[in-house]
Amino acid sequence: MSQPWSPEGWRNKPIRQVPSYSDETALAAVRDTLGNFPPLVFAGEARQLKRSLAQVAAGKAFLLQGGDCAESFAEFHPNNIRDTFRVLLQMAVVLTFGAACPVVKVGRMAGQFAKPRSSDVEVQNGVELPAYRGDIVNGIEFDEAARQPDPQRMIRAYNQAAATLNLLRAFAQGGFADLHKVHKWNLQFVSGSSQGRRYDELAQRIDEALAFMQACGVTPETVQQLRETEFYTSHEALLLDYEQPLTRVDSLTGDWYACSAHMLWIGDRTRQVDGAHVEYLRGVHNPIGMKCGPTSDPEELLRLLDVLNPNNEPGRITLISRMGWDKVEEFLPRLVRRVKEEGREVVWSCDPMHGNTIKSGSGFKTRPFDRILQEVRGFFAVHRAEGTYAGGVHFEMTGQDVTECLGGAQAIDDTMLADRYHTHCDPRLNANQALELAFLIAEELKAERLARDQEASTVVYAAGE
Ligand code: PEP
Ligand code: CO
Repeated sequence: MSQPWSPEGWRNKPIRQVPSYSDETALAAVRDTLGNFPPLVFAGEARQLKRSLAQVAAGKAFLLQGGDCAESFAEFHPNNIRDTFRVLLQMAVVLTFGAACPVVKVGRMAGQFAKPRSSDVEVQNGVELPAYRGDIVNGIEFDEAARQPDPQRMIRAYNQAAATLNLLRAFAQGGFADLHKVHKWNLQFVSGSSQGRRYDELAQRIDEALAFMQACGVTPETVQQLRETEFYTSHEALLLDYEQPLTRVDSLTGDWYACSAHMLWIGDRTRQVDGAHVEYLRGVHNPIGMKCGPTSDPEELLRLLDVLNPNNEPGRITLISRMGWDKVEEFLPRLVRRVKEEGREVVWSCDPMHGNTIKSGSGFKTRPFDRILQEVRGFFAVHRAEGTYAGGVHFEMTGQDVTECLGGAQAIDDTMLADRYHTHCDPRLNANQALELAFLIAEELKAERLARDQEASTVVYAAGE
């Protein structure tokens, strides 16, 4: 029998990464306000995403999850939302072509505000202030007032998430995502680059395929998938004072759902099996992600799966490995092996960002493109060796032309980082780098697919002998 659960039950558990609000009454008032606001997503949508992720777990689809490290109030603009969405669509098209299977699209968008920090404080020139924890908690400016956690920021974050989601729904369903517009998704500054040209060639082939299908009577009027797409939202379920009041009972099933996003994940710093974050997430029926790092222990991972997915429901759990380019082949196999031995149904996804953050010579927090790619390749190699399915990727990226990660075909070097370094937290891939990576991963996927097909035909042949 599982333990009873309630949306506020996490309060009785040890918690990490929690802001210290100075005014409990003001905090409680904000929780009450949020509790009266409409849900941002609906249980049926979360269930649909879970079904799609179950397809990924079964090796029949691929997961693409991406967006900002931290959304911010300052960068809130329809063009930013449009451009991130657009690059995700482009990446998905490229991956669909490589994998020849559906790509499940999930944005780190419409709620990705709260950030875990390695230290509670930040010191600059001998002055110590609380660390910045994301715009939903406090301000990034290094001054006393800005750094005080302010519960009112949760209301602003909710409103921004609602407006973002509204625009994303319009883009996904209102014609923008129609496959016939595949050329138009190329961003101006990308179209001149080698990736942009490569993308245009691909778009040309899609056009030809669509013309052929049209001749056969398959048109956007008859087939919904050609004119719209499914797009889901996700964020790290870190700030439980925000999540709790947005947790609602689904009237159809009577089950609890987190209604702040379709998918929530548990970060690397808050995945303690008896901790508050795991306690909160075990009770909501959404699909759940969990980061796995070099410190993840296989037996502890199994205990977490017992708690978070006692019925071993496929699509419920996505394990997001974030080991580092030089550690993935050392630390991932033992996790994959144990999970497979125990017959646990999971999606394995690769976050090649968080294990590859370095300080550049000029002092910027950055990530080298080559290491990001190296980690993805290592992730594929591990799954190939273990006979498991490399089901997805998880990126920090933006549709903007920023200079935050080193390398790629644009050859961004240390001297260029200062040009357009805009992130509120970790360095993101820019649109060019994201597209380039999608092409490289598509090649991996294609090789996997061909190897699988070959294996299948050999088995058939052997059986027929
Ligand atoms: C993140 O995804 O932004 C993050 C903080 O990752 P991790 O928990 O893996 O460090
Ligand atoms: Co990050």
